[in-house]
Amino acid sequence: MNDIQNQDDLYLLVDEFYKKLLADEKISYIFTDVVKIKIEAHLPILVTFWSQAILGTGGYTKNLTQVHLDINAKEYLSKELFTIWLNHFNTAVDENFKGEKAEQIKTQALSIATILQIKIAQEKKT
Ligand code: HEM
Repeated sequence: MNDIQNQDDLYLLVDEFYKKLLADEKISYIFTDVVKIKIEAHLPILVTFWSQAILGTGGYTKNLTQVHLDINAKEYLSKELFTIWLNHFNTAVDENFKGEKAEQIKTQALSIATILQIKIAQEKKT
């Protein structure tokens, strides 16, 4: 099994990841009902984001925290949802890639998920 090496690999990863998210009714409603994502527009954004984070390319300019605070304002993004999200992400990585970048992307996902949950908790207080 190879490591994540380029944007084609990232596309495969986010595609496999979203198949898992959308097949899991415990979380899919966020992507189909709360925010109606258009998958063909959404996946390239995710590739740009992860390419910047893992491959050191640029290109992602939006405020990721604000994107998720906006979703949270419509539907509470609970700890359970984050756990489900992370499980599908880690599984999608492990099923397709092995190596330094594969480990790095899982660590990054966990850090970002932790930060997003802290921001969501702060939002509740204000
Ligand atoms: C409970 C967990 C999460 C849920 C339910 C969730 C849901 C969503 C949804 C519905 C969107 C589309 C927003 C829109 O187009 O308006 C989105 C965008 C995005 N999410 Fe998440 N997310 C979660 C956690 C995370 C985490 C932990 C990361 C990163 C590690 C992440 C990365 C992204 C990125 C890069 C986008 C694209 C933002 C953009 O359009 O610029 N998400 N998320």
